[in-house]
Amino acid sequence: MPAGLPLQPHDGCAGSSSAEGDRRNEVSEKAFAPGETVGAAELARAGLLLLGEQAAIDATAVFVPADAEGAMRRIEIGAGVRVGAYAVICGSACIGENAQAEEHTIVGKPEKGYAAGHLYPGAGARTQISPGVVVRAGTVIYAGVQAGAGTVIGHHTLLRSFVTVGEDTQLGHTPTVERAARIGDGVRCSPGSHITSSCVLAARVFLGAGIRTINDRELVWREAGREPELVPPRFERGAKAGSGSVVLAGVVIGENALVGAGSVVTRDVPAGATAYGVPARVRDRHGGRRRSTPKEATLL
Ligand SMILES: CC(C)(COP(=O)(O)OP(=O)(O)OC[C@H]1O[C@@H](n2cnc3c(N)ncnc32)[C@H](O)[C@@H]1OP(=O)(O)O)[C@@H](O)C(=O)NCCC(=O)NCCS
Repeated sequence: MPAGLPLQPHDGCAGSSSAEGDRRNEVSEKAFAPGETVGAAELARAGLLLLGEQAAIDATAVFVPADAEGAMRRIEIGAGVRVGAYAVICGSACIGENAQAEEHTIVGKPEKGYAAGHLYPGAGARTQISPGVVVRAGTVIYAGVQAGAGTVIGHHTLLRSFVTVGEDTQLGHTPTVERAARIGDGVRCSPGSHITSSCVLAARVFLGAGIRTINDRELVWREAGREPELVPPRFERGAKAGSGSVVLAGVVIGENALVGAGSVVTRDVPAGATAYGVPARVRDRHGGRRRSTPKEATLL
């Protein structure tokens, strides 16, 4: 903590909902310009930093209390939190007890720009990093993200707006997780995957390295009068996908199903089944081709 920084009561943020937290954190005075960066001491003097005991904020870390629309929001840093060198923490971020935001992390960045039929105005939103979360160096976390207790977010991860990550999940380095994707508890992601917008990874899903998930069926791109139909894939509880696999729009990988490395999965994989190949087909382990049953999807 920089010398002379006043301690302020911080009662933890893990239990608050986004809406409640946002209301609590919005303040009316216009102390700082939209996007202006300030140091911890200045933010605390303005009453916009709630700081727990023994939090350690590197002197080079900066804070951005006002979003692009000029809305000013408090920032909450829990007891024992460590904020590393050159970290950027934005308004309405709440970092729970003993969490870490390592060097060059950005937490709570408001989304600004156009994407998939929506204009994002740069509005801030409550960003909740729960107790004990480790955000490794170089990670960018957009506004509205929630990360559950004990989760580890690997180096250079990108979590776009309103992504939720459950408890005790591990994201290896460099995954890109698009808007509103939902990642459950106890999930393991090896490095380098792309999780498309609104994709669901239920609890205890395992992803190998470099998996691609797709939510656009037809690759509609700037065609007059046509909007893409975006249907994200879904991985049910305990599903596993091998490295380099590609999962197309709307596909459901069933509970405890397994997708082989390098597969292109075009249709649903039934619960408990193993599917691999291009396109993926359900097979017995060790190479046998399976006969279909009426309940199974049309992969066979
Ligand atoms: C799909 C998988 C589970 C199959 O394992 P298996 O049942 O032991 O399969 P085998 O090694 O006995 O191979 C059986 C046949 O399927 C083929 N095969 C195996 N995996 C394949 C795959 N992913 N894609 C295409 N063909 C595959 C083999 O070449 C073999 O064909 P053959 O009989 O003509 O020689 C495994 O190969 C796999 O892909 N595991 C994923 C591992 C992974 O990505 N881990 C992530 C680490 S981060």
